[in-house]
Amino acid sequence: MIYLDNAATTYPKPLQVIKSMDLAMRKYNANPGRGGYKMSIDTSEEVFKCREKISKLFNASNPENVVFTLNCTSSLNIVLKGILNKGDHVVVSCLEHNAVMRPLQSLTQMGIDYSVAKVYPKDNDATLDSFRKSLNERTKLIVCMHVSNVWGIRLPIERISAMARQYNIRVVVDAAQSAGIFNIDLKDSNIDYLCLAGHKGLYGPMGTGIIIIKNANDIRPIIEGGTGSNSISMEQPNIMPDKFESGTLNITGIIGLGAAIDFINSKGINNIARHEYNLVSRLYEALSNMDHIELYMPKPDLNYFAPLISFNVKKLDSENVARFLSNNGIAVRAGLHCAPSAHKFCGTLDRGAVRVCPSVFTKYSEIEFLISLLKNKRLHNL
Ligand code: ALA
Repeated sequence: MIYLDNAATTYPKPLQVIKSMDLAMRKYNANPGRGGYKMSIDTSEEVFKCREKISKLFNASNPENVVFTLNCTSSLNIVLKGILNKGDHVVVSCLEHNAVMRPLQSLTQMGIDYSVAKVYPKDNDATLDSFRKSLNERTKLIVCMHVSNVWGIRLPIERISAMARQYNIRVVVDAAQSAGIFNIDLKDSNIDYLCLAGHKGLYGPMGTGIIIIKNANDIRPIIEGGTGSNSISMEQPNIMPDKFESGTLNITGIIGLGAAIDFINSKGINNIARHEYNLVSRLYEALSNMDHIELYMPKPDLNYFAPLISFNVKKLDSENVARFLSNNGIAVRAGLHCAPSAHKFCGTLDRGAVRVCPSVFTKYSEIEFLISLLKNKRLHNL
């Protein structure tokens, strides 16, 4: 199989991730923070090492502000439901994933409302202006993706968060699609809550999510329970990260994620992005010379886009094209990618789009094979 669905999850995972998880199951399989014996202490140390690596990668102020969750969706739910109160207003971008839109929609039943800011690909001034115009005196939060999982559009999160700071509005960034591709420096930014998936561009296993919380004071935990700390008390501890980490963590996954971060550091994030950019540039060039292919975004440019391409074959449903590719050994994701807002943006809500997303492991020959299939006459007869 040629795997080009790396925006859904990266595959293959680096060998060192697989090995570290095997070792974790054998050597670090006690409950951390719950025992005074060696294996429990060793396991706690391994978890802390991963917190430190994440903290360093994103230049967070403190590893204790790194909270482990199940996935980026749970990170976003924890933040939105932990902060918002009746009467609060939220601004989101017009490209958000259902991981943001569904919790927000359910919060409207509690008297919270939201406005949608339009995004202008390659025009960050216009995008920023549209966020500014969507604010009102009740706006408490801006929730915004860093990169669209459908179109790869890169949002100017540094400028949006700097603008939000002027109005004392907090910012949540959904960096599920950008972490490991683009650098995010929390020290130099005003991002208050950075939500991450461990299993995409960070190359960790599924079941690992993260929130890096700048200030944990005014956010309520939505899940409470055992933390291994201050067990005498019926109150949820206020200390970080315990406040948001009740119940046993996914230790095997977290240790795998730590090895994955070593992997991306050894490759270099910029080198990974450059490799993927070269691949999608070749694909874009080939597709733009095919009359039967509809492209929706301009030429790849890492200043404005992450390295992924979504397209359609004229007259065909995107799922049919994906099935044709799958029958020929290529894995891509078609349909709506859990982001109907993003498809509405490009007028593809009716048939979705075919998304191609390479990884650091993708070879040029694999992209050439995809190109040859898309030229294939059989495709037109689907
Ligand atoms: N959100 C992931 C995707 O875009 C799963 O495919």
